[in-house]
Amino acid sequence: CGIVGYTGFQDAYDIVINGLRRLEYRGYDSAGIVLEGSNNKLEVEKTKGKVDDLVNISKELKGTAKIGMGHTRWATHGVPSDRNSHPHLSNNGKIAIVHNGIIENYDTIKKMLSEKGFTFQSETDTEVLVNLIQYFMDLNPEIDFPTAVRYALNEVYGAYAITVLHEDYPGILVVGRLGSPLAIGIGDKEYFIASDASPFVEFTKEAIYLEEGHMATISLENGVDIRTITENSKIQPEIQQLKLNLEQIEKGGYEHFMLKEIFEQPKSVHDTMRGRLLVDEGIIKMAGIWDHLERFKNANRIIIIACGTSWHAGLIGEYLIEEYARIPVEVEYASEFRYRNPIITDKDVVIAISQSGETADTMAALKLAKEKGAFIYGICNVVDSSIARITDAGSYTHAGPEIGVASTKAFTAQLTILTLIAFKLGKHNGNLGNADFMSLIAELDAIPKRIEEVLNTTHEQIKEIAKDFVETTNFLYLGRGYNYPAALEGALKLKEISYIHAEGYPAAEMKHGPIALIDENMPIVIIAPKRGHYDKIVSNVQEIKARKGKIIAVVNKGDRQVSEMADYVIEIPETSECFSPIVASVPLQLLAYYIAVYRGANVDQPRNLAKSVTVE
Ligand code: G6P
Repeated sequence: CGIVGYTGFQDAYDIVINGLRRLEYRGYDSAGIVLEGSNNKLEVEKTKGKVDDLVNISKELKGTAKIGMGHTRWATHGVPSDRNSHPHLSNNGKIAIVHNGIIENYDTIKKMLSEKGFTFQSETDTEVLVNLIQYFMDLNPEIDFPTAVRYALNEVYGAYAITVLHEDYPGILVVGRLGSPLAIGIGDKEYFIASDASPFVEFTKEAIYLEEGHMATISLENGVDIRTITENSKIQPEIQQLKLNLEQIEKGGYEHFMLKEIFEQPKSVHDTMRGRLLVDEGIIKMAGIWDHLERFKNANRIIIIACGTSWHAGLIGEYLIEEYARIPVEVEYASEFRYRNPIITDKDVVIAISQSGETADTMAALKLAKEKGAFIYGICNVVDSSIARITDAGSYTHAGPEIGVASTKAFTAQLTILTLIAFKLGKHNGNLGNADFMSLIAELDAIPKRIEEVLNTTHEQIKEIAKDFVETTNFLYLGRGYNYPAALEGALKLKEISYIHAEGYPAAEMKHGPIALIDENMPIVIIAPKRGHYDKIVSNVQEIKARKGKIIAVVNKGDRQVSEMADYVIEIPETSECFSPIVASVPLQLLAYYIAVYRGANVDQPRNLAKSVTVE
């Protein structure tokens, strides 16, 4: 979900609505706004659907207030509906809240409040929280509004970022955070609140990222007063300078963010290597690894934890690190890892991969690993995100903000970091000889150019290929070795944005099940670069051909054997096997993108998904 809040001299309606549009990628089941007008009355509008739907019903609020807040929702408790949309009001109608996260003990609190006569309009946990605030104020008229919020937050378990307004306390926004991110933008005579800095980047470059377990009372009169939620101890805020600029979060002439981000990959991969890969000196500079080299060298094993696309990157990381650094690697879904009582010791290194750095399961899995003494390392894209903060060390992927819900440039940037780590560890522990190291890093350095080439040569062709698959209902993606996870990722891209069922499989495993599905209606995307079990893949393609499957082959330039059997041939430049997932992923992203576009799907905001999943 996304939260925006504002107090200042500008029209709060415009700031909140524009801010919500920027945050819509975080969730878009419903949207709502509340403003504190000139008579201090709270005006609320909310609806199921997108920010555009909200604008349709709320235009009359424009120009009426200088303070307000809004929300765009990804449903957890209760179906997406007008009633369940935020903001939620307390029973006396005086307090409004927007909330991101989950209140786990809401049921118990709801029962208690119901016994005291409170009623509820929605099924949400959020409405329980706002009424708990009212309850504390009713109980003890001596306490003020921020104190009541603090009392309420001390009663709840779970994860939250909240912003609260009270009619009797005009001009004051109270915010709090535990588990879900919240940034406060500091302008000149104005303050902004948002789940990330994108809603206010054009107004100010100064921001405070609220820390875990902190709350803040914000007003034009008294500025930002930050306290701990448990002790009410005053905190001196750390003001950060934002590096984000407006251009990075706008579409820049592309029809969708996803397409823009696919095309940004030569740059994002390059940026991720910049300052780290020094080809002439034959050095990979990564402070996070260098400072803890002994820990890595002495590791019994490396465990990679992640979710979604980041998990696919982790699988490729396993191939890379095992091949070049010869350290055993296990890759786990964060959600499984955290709940299966895993064996972790202080000899383990745990690497978390997360674009957002906020994924709740990944965060919880990391905390668990840390408690058990493992050394924890983060690979995040969002600077200063929660995961980046709790890790012992880490490497940022410098891919820039990724707005399209389906991850593209963050994925290839994650692969870039994992490649750097594998080569660096391999060099230092003696498993990767100097000559091989030098030739691999020279090749890595040229990967942005290879991506550029793929974009230039395949884009128009893939637009055409995609037209033939608009009506298709199933897809199979196959690859071997490094390209098995690339097949998983290709399939995930397609299902996420086009809603076509797609499965990724190791090519050889096909004959143990999926082969039963193959007939003339089944398209099979097969990743078959020359270096990487090519002969074996040829046999797999023959098996498919014999069953009349429709083959879309991703092959190297000049390929003959697979190309002769394939119905569609997409050529990518030849690379060492370890780089092929980076290069091969690009046409698969384009294929998913164009099929989805032709099917009329909203590629940047696919149904039911959210960019950053801060609930488990
Ligand atoms: C969500 C997104 C995916 C992403 C996954 C993990 O499901 O829709 O694109 O791969 O979360 O996110 P993370 O930010 O941890 O990489």
